[in-house]
Amino acid sequence: MTDLLSHLQTRRSVSNALLSEPGPDDPTLADMLTLAARVPDHGKLAPWRFVIYPAGARKAGAEWLAARAEALGEDVEKRVKKANGFATAPVCVGVISTAAPHVKIPEWEQHLSAGAVCLNLLHAAAAYGFRAQWLTDWFSNDPEACAYLGVAEGERVAGFVYIGSYANAVPDRDRPDVPALTSTWAAPA
Ligand SMILES: Cc1cc2nc3c(=O)[nH]c(=O)nc-3n(C[C@H](O)[C@H](O)[C@H](O)COP(=O)(O)O)c2cc1C
Repeated sequence: MTDLLSHLQTRRSVSNALLSEPGPDDPTLADMLTLAARVPDHGKLAPWRFVIYPAGARKAGAEWLAARAEALGEDVEKRVKKANGFATAPVCVGVISTAAPHVKIPEWEQHLSAGAVCLNLLHAAAAYGFRAQWLTDWFSNDPEACAYLGVAEGERVAGFVYIGSYANAVPDRDRPDVPALTSTWAAPA
């Protein structure tokens, strides 16, 4: 409990560009994905799936994404930099939301469950002593890039979770003023 509390009090993402070897080996990654999948899931639909992007394959992926950024012609420099980021870190896992119309469970709730998987994967990485970052980047919202990355039509990228090692402490960032964001409801008169 204390470990969990202290993790929640101090957790920080580490930029994917800073994540280096070692990353989790395949059995450890498989365990981490099993943990990540232990999320609240209304209707037990498991409305998400994982895509592992091996480091070797991501080099070609980053080149393709950079070419796509050039072809799109907007914010090219920034987008090429983000495209290059796809090749960073020892491990990259795509969490894909497969949310679809359902008679009882709103799609919104299914997407939320996919988001919970991403956060849980960050926690699982930390539990195994790794550091991680959850990114979407422009290519999550580009249909052609999504198709290239194995995201089917109708699916959405909940996140690319980059995992690796980073020995240094990361200073905390500004945190929201939670009391200012908190109110207590009363029934309207
Ligand atoms: C859905 C989602 C997508 C994100 N995508 C990006 C992104 O594309 N680029 C980025 O710099 N940060 C992105 N972030 C923010 C980082 O994951 C992270 O929150 C931030 O780097 C540091 O926050 P932390 O240390 O509290 O985790 C995203 C966060 C979420 C929840």
